[in-house]
Amino acid sequence: MNEAKQYEQTSARENLDVLTRKQLPASIERQLIQIPRDTWSQHPNYFGKAKFFIDYHNSLKQMSAALVNNLEVMLDSPKPDFTLQEVIHQGQGFIQTAHHHHYMEDHFYFPHFRRVERELGKGIDLLDGDHKSLSNALNDVQERISFPNGQVDPNFSLGYLHERAVKLDNILKRHLDDEEEIIIPIFLKYERSY
Ligand SMILES: [Fe+2]
Ligand SMILES: [Fe+2]
Repeated sequence: MNEAKQYEQTSARENLDVLTRKQLPASIERQLIQIPRDTWSQHPNYFGKAKFFIDYHNSLKQMSAALVNNLEVMLDSPKPDFTLQEVIHQGQGFIQTAHHHHYMEDHFYFPHFRRVERELGKGIDLLDGDHKSLSNALNDVQERISFPNGQVDPNFSLGYLHERAVKLDNILKRHLDDEEEIIIPIFLKYERSY
């Protein structure tokens, strides 16, 4: 079997699903710009887009975790310190921030990355696919906290909203960690071009 065929078959067996994969597929890992994560903060180009993206990702993770945690408090406690409306408002802010971030990546950063690092095309394809799953998961939560007339829907289920928020949180964490492995080394390598 020639090398190209072997690579194709290995890729076909790899798990690309953001909901179930545990790490980047090996075929993508091999193509990364090799700058280990534990050295990023010492890199001379770290204090630019690299740090900005890591900080942004951390704030998205915090907003997502806060939504899940607050829903858990509401499920466990009959009289929490906050109202459902406050949690919904917080959740809507998180969803908007996440959509905005993905929009910027889809329309500006990813096309740019494809041009400057052609070998990373498969990795960017993976991130594109993740964004579709993320968008669905964000919309799923959004639908459950949108009350057009300002009144909580009588069919509203806190347990079901929590379930969807946990799913979204899992997808988001996997995506952000894997995305950083792919894109942070690009920022470190090409900082002056941004
Ligand atoms: Fe992303
Ligand atoms: Fe991102």
